[in-house]
Amino acid sequence: MNIGIDKIGFYSPQHYIEMSELAKARNTEPNKYIIGLGLERMAIPPITQDTTSMAANAAAIILDENDKKSIDLVIVATESGTDFSKSIATSVHTMLDINPYARSIEMKQACYSATAGIQLAKGHIALHPDSKALVIASDISRYGLNTGGEPTQGAGAVAILVSKDPKILTLNNDEVYFTDDVLDFWRPSYSDVAFVDGKYSNEQYQRFFNETLKRYLDVNDASLEDFAALNFHIPYSKMGKKALMSVTNEEQHPLLFKNFEDSTYYNKRVGNIYTGSLYLSLISLLEKGNLEAGSKLGLFSYGSGAVGEFFTGNLVEGYKDALVTNHEAMMNNRKQISIPEYERMFNMKLIEDGGHQILDTSKETSEFYLTEVKHNERIYNK
Ligand code: CAA
Repeated sequence: MNIGIDKIGFYSPQHYIEMSELAKARNTEPNKYIIGLGLERMAIPPITQDTTSMAANAAAIILDENDKKSIDLVIVATESGTDFSKSIATSVHTMLDINPYARSIEMKQACYSATAGIQLAKGHIALHPDSKALVIASDISRYGLNTGGEPTQGAGAVAILVSKDPKILTLNNDEVYFTDDVLDFWRPSYSDVAFVDGKYSNEQYQRFFNETLKRYLDVNDASLEDFAALNFHIPYSKMGKKALMSVTNEEQHPLLFKNFEDSTYYNKRVGNIYTGSLYLSLISLLEKGNLEAGSKLGLFSYGSGAVGEFFTGNLVEGYKDALVTNHEAMMNNRKQISIPEYERMFNMKLIEDGGHQILDTSKETSEFYLTEVKHNERIYNK
C-alpha cells in the first residue's frame, strides 16, 4: 500500500520586515543577511497569532469536510508551544471541527518532531488504511532583539495530510535516523527566547546530515544519482546549501543545486519556522520546481539536541494539480512593517497574572486568531 502526503499547505502571519532594513538597523552589511545567510524577508507575528492559531490557519487551508470526517489522528509538532499539559492538537482539533473520535497529541524534539509525527502517521495509516492523519508543524522562532540569532527568526505553520494513495508524495520505508546528546540549541522552560551556540549548531547539523546520508546510501545500496532533489531543514537557506556542498558540487550534480534553489523560495521570504522549515522547503520545491512524476526526493530533517533523519519519497502522477494554489497570494498580501514597529511587536506580551486581557483584533485578516486571555486561558475567535 502506498502511504504519504496527500495534501500540504502553509500559513504565515500577515506582517514582515525586509532583511536589508534589519541589517541597516543592526549596523550590518545587508549582503551578510541576503547572501551570507540567504534570507530576504522575515515574517513577524502579531500578538493575536500564536502557535495554536497558526496551526489552525495552516490546516484550514488544506482540509475539506470529507478530510475532517476521516481524520482520526491529529499531531502538532512544536518547540514554541504555550502549555506544558494541554496539547495544541486538542485545541486545533476542535477549532477545525474534526471527527471527535480522534487521537490528538503534541510532539517535541526541536525542529525534528514533525518528521517523527509523519512517520507515526504513516504507521497509523498502515494499520488503519481508511483513516487520515493530520500533522501540523507550528512555531514562532525567537532568539531576541540584537542577538546573533535575530536574523534567523520567523513564524509560520505547515499542515500535512497523510493518507493511503496520496496525491502528492509517496513515502518509502527506507528512512534512517541518528541521535546524540548535544547542546547546540535549547530553550529552558523559564525563557521565551531560545539559546543557541550558532557555529556549533551548524557543525552538528552538517555532522548529522553526513551521518544519515552515508548510512542511507550504505543500507539502501543507493547513490546521489538516484535523487532528483534533496530537501533540507533550512532555518536559513545558506545552511542547507552548505550541507549539500559538503557531499557534492554544482559541476557534478547541477540538478540538485538548481532544485535546491527552488526549494528555498518561501523560506527566504518567511524566515525560520523551526519544525515546519523542511516542509516549507518541500512546498517551495513542489510549487516552484519542475520535477517529473516518479522523481525521487531525499529529505533531511534535523532537530537540535539532537536528532537527524534522512527519508525519501516519490512524486505522484499529477501532483502539481493537488497543490494549494493561493500561497503566493497570501505572501503578496502581507504588509511590510518598519524595524521600530517590529521591535514594539516583539516586546508585546500576554498577561501572566490570571487577569483579563482583551486584544485588539481589528487588523486581523486570518481565519483564526487569539482574542483574549482570561484566568490564564487563551481564547480564540472560533
Ligand atoms: N556579503 C556576503 N556574505 C557575507 C557578508 C557580506 N557582506 N558578511 C558576512 N557574510 C557571510 C559569512 O562569510 C558567512 O558565510 P559562511 O557561513 O559561508 O562562511 C555568513 O555570511 C554568516 O556570517 P557569520 O558566520 O559571520 O555570521 P554570525 O556570526 O552572525 O552567525 C548564525 C550566523 C550562526 C547563523 C547566527 O545567525 C545564529 O546563531 N543563528 C541561529 C543558529 C541556527 O539557526 N542554527 C541552526 C541549527 S539549529 C536549528 O535548526 C534550530 C532547531 O533545531 C530548533
